[in-house]
Amino acid sequence: MRRIDGEATGSRGIFITLEGPDGSGKSSQQRLLVDRLRAAAGREVVATREPGGTPLGERVRGILLESGIAHDPIVDALLFNAARRALVDEVVLPALSHGAVVVCDRFADSTLAYQGYGGGTAIEDLEALADVAIGGLRPTRTVLLDLNVDDGLARRRGGPTAELTRFETSDAHGREFHARVRAGYLALAAAEPERWRVVNASGLPDEVAALVWDAVSDLFEEG
Ligand code: TYD
Repeated sequence: MRRIDGEATGSRGIFITLEGPDGSGKSSQQRLLVDRLRAAAGREVVATREPGGTPLGERVRGILLESGIAHDPIVDALLFNAARRALVDEVVLPALSHGAVVVCDRFADSTLAYQGYGGGTAIEDLEALADVAIGGLRPTRTVLLDLNVDDGLARRRGGPTAELTRFETSDAHGREFHARVRAGYLALAAAEPERWRVVNASGLPDEVAALVWDAVSDLFEEG
């Protein structure tokens, strides 16, 4: 099996990931950030998302998100990691290796937050799985769009694209699950402050976009 060497491969590009609860506005913020980077960065910007981003990933996404097919958190973690390996191999590493900026809507931290802190799978087991799948590849910067649990749940239900996934409809994913996910994200951010920036996602889209820009702009300063 070819192992992905997360340390060596990503060195030329910049890998930014956006994390946060359902309803935090990640997809819109990704679009706004990518537009701004394309205007400012002077280098190629690649936008992608998880689960998905490759033909295999989009099919795995269907299995993962479809209501009516229940799996336990370990099955979920295995499937997310399968899709993630394909994404890293086919999209993320090729782009980073020629110096692009990659902006990914969710990445490995989602599995730690949702299947780990939310679903109760041991974090060490998930880290071992991530090591097999993606060789411990870490983003250059991870922006957490943080929102209190009730606002996230309310936005999610009322949102314009209110197509609910299995993670939003099953009994296992109620308010307490989402409270654990949020606490997990904040713990991950606190444990690795040089990589993470926590942004308050409760404002208007333009206000949040300005905070997201502040959270990444140092990566593009000269020198
Ligand atoms: P999606 O429709 O992409 O939602 P969002 O806009 O909130 O990202 O659905 C992704 C769902 O999958 C979301 O509820 C979070 C969940 N998820 C995990 O549980 N683990 C993971 O590793 C990833 C990538 C996503």
